[in-house]
Amino acid sequence: MNLLHINDLHVNFSTKAGQVRVLSGFCLDIEKGSSICLVGESGCGKTIVALSIMRLLPENAQVSGEIQFKDRDLLILEKEEIRQIRGHEISMIFEQPASCLNPVFTVGDQIAESVRANGLCKKNEARDAAIELMRLTGIPSPKKRFDQYPHEFSGGMLQRVMISIAMASKPALLIADEPTTSLDVTVQAQIVELIKDLITKFGMSLLLITHDLGVAAELCRDVAVMYAGEIVESGCLNEVFRHPKHPYTKALLRAISDDGLRPIKGSVPELTNLPEGCWFHPRCPFAEDQCRLSKPELKNGIRCHLWKKN
Ligand SMILES: Nc1ncnc2c1ncn2[C@@H]1O[C@H](COP(=O)(O)OP(=O)(O)O)[C@@H](O)[C@H]1O
Ligand SMILES: [Mg+2]
Repeated sequence: MNLLHINDLHVNFSTKAGQVRVLSGFCLDIEKGSSICLVGESGCGKTIVALSIMRLLPENAQVSGEIQFKDRDLLILEKEEIRQIRGHEISMIFEQPASCLNPVFTVGDQIAESVRANGLCKKNEARDAAIELMRLTGIPSPKKRFDQYPHEFSGGMLQRVMISIAMASKPALLIADEPTTSLDVTVQAQIVELIKDLITKFGMSLLLITHDLGVAAELCRDVAVMYAGEIVESGCLNEVFRHPKHPYTKALLRAISDDGLRPIKGSVPELTNLPEGCWFHPRCPFAEDQCRLSKPELKNGIRCHLWKKN
């Protein structure tokens, strides 16, 4: 059963340079208890997908389409109704945990506040519940750490704090947008382990956004590869990573192969000026006439006219 069903999502921004079309007809399904990763180069619209679900898009965004979560369309809910879902049934963690915490309140108070907001325990029990969450997310000496301020925590510990806050409600869906990107490698691995443990323990669904394909492989069963605001290939992660079919997926995987980072030739198209035909064709080594003329549909998880040939 689908927990989240995104259908025909369009997001445009009005800017001084004109209309920027970031998502056009984006579709995605997340089953209950499953984990899916959005991957793709910077600027391809991954964060905008997450912010659309959370209804946290900037003011200059125009949105249409459907985002069904447990049979309710999040896009048409009243502000008060979406607040009942955001941070309760759907929680999100971000790349920069420090920027999400208030520097003048103790870490413990901020976790306890999210426990209280969820109404899951009596007021005087919030402190204990927060300490329990700190323990659950692997923060050492939680009783002592409760009374410390964000600046007394390392980046990795702050991400654990954010995860504690996200977990306060035991959400059905956790959205993690580059949760390990700002951390150093050993800490990254610990946070990945923590997220993995939590999704298993609580049967949460995970929508992970990352440009780190290793992190994606570690955490997710499924993957959706995005290019210029669209999915170009999706499916079971092991299958897609072992046998990529779309030329962009192939290039993305090659770009992070063993001999370091090799950028994909050409540059990401400007969203205000997308090419005719397949949006990837100017960078595609296999492009033929039909790729320049007509835009491929997403069929059986692949958006390419020629994938069978190459
Ligand atoms: N408020 C905004 N106004 C105009 N364009 C925006 C705004 N926010 C994001 N964009 C554009 O949307 C595109 C997708 O952004 P984003 O989802 O953040 O990419 P990423 O895949 O790196 O997370 C980018 O090209 C970005 O410039
Ligand atoms: Mg992003």
